[in-house]
Amino acid sequence: MDKELIIVLDFGGQYNQLIARRVREAGVYCEVHPYTMPLEMLLAKNPKGIILTGGPNSVYDMESPHYDKELFSAGIPILGICYGAQLLAWALSGKVETAPVSEYGKTEITVCGKGGILQDVDDTTIMWMSHTDYIAEVPEGFAVTASTPVCPVAAMEHAAKKLYAVQFHPEVTHSVQGSQVLSAFLYGPCGCSGDWKMDAFVENTIAEIRRKVGDGKALCALSGGVDSSVAAVMMSKAIGKQLTCVFVDHGLLRKHEGDEVEAVFGPAGPYNLNFVRVNAQQRFYDKLAGITEPEEKRKIIGEEFIRVFEEEAQKIGAVDFLVQGTIYPDLIESGLGDSAVIKSHHNVGGLPDYVDFKEIIEPLRMLFKDEVRRAGLELGIPEYLVFRQPFPGPGLGIRIVGEVTAEKVQMVQDADAIYREEIAAAGLDKEVNQYFAALTNMRSVGVMGDFRTYDYAVALRGVTTSDFMTAEAAKLPWELIEKVTTRIINEVDHVNRVFYDCTGKPPGTIEFE
Ligand code: XMP
Repeated sequence: MDKELIIVLDFGGQYNQLIARRVREAGVYCEVHPYTMPLEMLLAKNPKGIILTGGPNSVYDMESPHYDKELFSAGIPILGICYGAQLLAWALSGKVETAPVSEYGKTEITVCGKGGILQDVDDTTIMWMSHTDYIAEVPEGFAVTASTPVCPVAAMEHAAKKLYAVQFHPEVTHSVQGSQVLSAFLYGPCGCSGDWKMDAFVENTIAEIRRKVGDGKALCALSGGVDSSVAAVMMSKAIGKQLTCVFVDHGLLRKHEGDEVEAVFGPAGPYNLNFVRVNAQQRFYDKLAGITEPEEKRKIIGEEFIRVFEEEAQKIGAVDFLVQGTIYPDLIESGLGDSAVIKSHHNVGGLPDYVDFKEIIEPLRMLFKDEVRRAGLELGIPEYLVFRQPFPGPGLGIRIVGEVTAEKVQMVQDADAIYREEIAAAGLDKEVNQYFAALTNMRSVGVMGDFRTYDYAVALRGVTTSDFMTAEAAKLPWELIEKVTTRIINEVDHVNRVFYDCTGKPPGTIEFE
């Protein structure tokens, strides 16, 4: 597929994925690659434009990430953002210094060079700034196109060379006209036509899968979550009954979830899939006995998943391909991009070295979550499935802090079911993007009736987020929290305390482990 491509060159800033999402939202396909990608490899991809991201370093520090200066004379349009802007200035002999005053947050910029990538921006507009260094002098041939009272070069350009730089972050929603800046770059100097369309992606991927699988057989790891459901339906459209979907009930699912998944994708459901349910609860509990370290738990769950699939594949016989619902942020967060490894996702980082399949097919590996949902709708999957809140592969295994046991699973399942029921009853299930109960490893003293109790504490989590990369604790009504607390303590054995988690991400993560 020779679709238009924009490359985001990642210098370790926190908004790298966001830049790529914004570019795709504007209709152009975009990939994130680490700054360590050699120039020849980058040029071989034939990008229509390159965006250099922000990052925490100072360009004049020789230890900081830099890039081959030849990039700037390769004739490809470039947009440097924040650190990327300073890098561009520095590489072309401009001057970058520590700013006398750091700027952080919403900042009014004044546009002095209309046209270029600022053509659709008002003369004064609010953009998001986050910098301690700044461009003190632009390189030869560049013109300053925007400034703030403390930042003389909020934007600069060399129109003839199609080199652009902005000190602000156009990708964050706080930048009021940020998306206009990105669009102007894509559709102006880069000359994109906007050929990233979901219907074409779905159609092309189905054709590609058909070609790859031929008359072979594939096995799909179906969890009932959005990603694997979309992957399964897409695969089934491509290869029909050559596909078998294996649903592993690892005993770490939400209450009644196993039966619900079977009702949708099993023989009674609308999809006409080869569907196999494997009840492997005890097997997972045995493997997890005595294990408390989060990464070890994740790895064990991931590996056991694969072993179960391999066994099922052997039963079916001659299965060449394993299908997984891996999506693009999984790849980046698992360290295959250049950001620090935060958690290994079971379907990528936790994959064992040896996998007994000829090949793994990940039809969604280049999509962001919102794009997976669009692909799901395109495939005719009902909205209530497509817009389900995410549920992690390792399931309740990472919502039970410390050792996992069957008893603890039951506690957290019951508490979670009550919480979900009350959130839905309050009509908040669409407003809060992800919410669940977790079981802390803490036991404390309480009193119920006239008896002393020494029981577990449940933590309720609720977050609002658009991308799951950053999140805020949802401000739930107190009456709701009170009601859920009372119900959990009355109805769930061995729980005597309920907490609400007020932590955002960062510094927390959405899940507990
Ligand atoms: P964190 O906890 O990293 O979660 O803030 C971000 C989003 O990712 C989900 N998540 C996972 N999904 N396998 C998955 O398929 C995993 O190992 C995993 N860990 C976290 C989490 O539920 C949230 O939506």
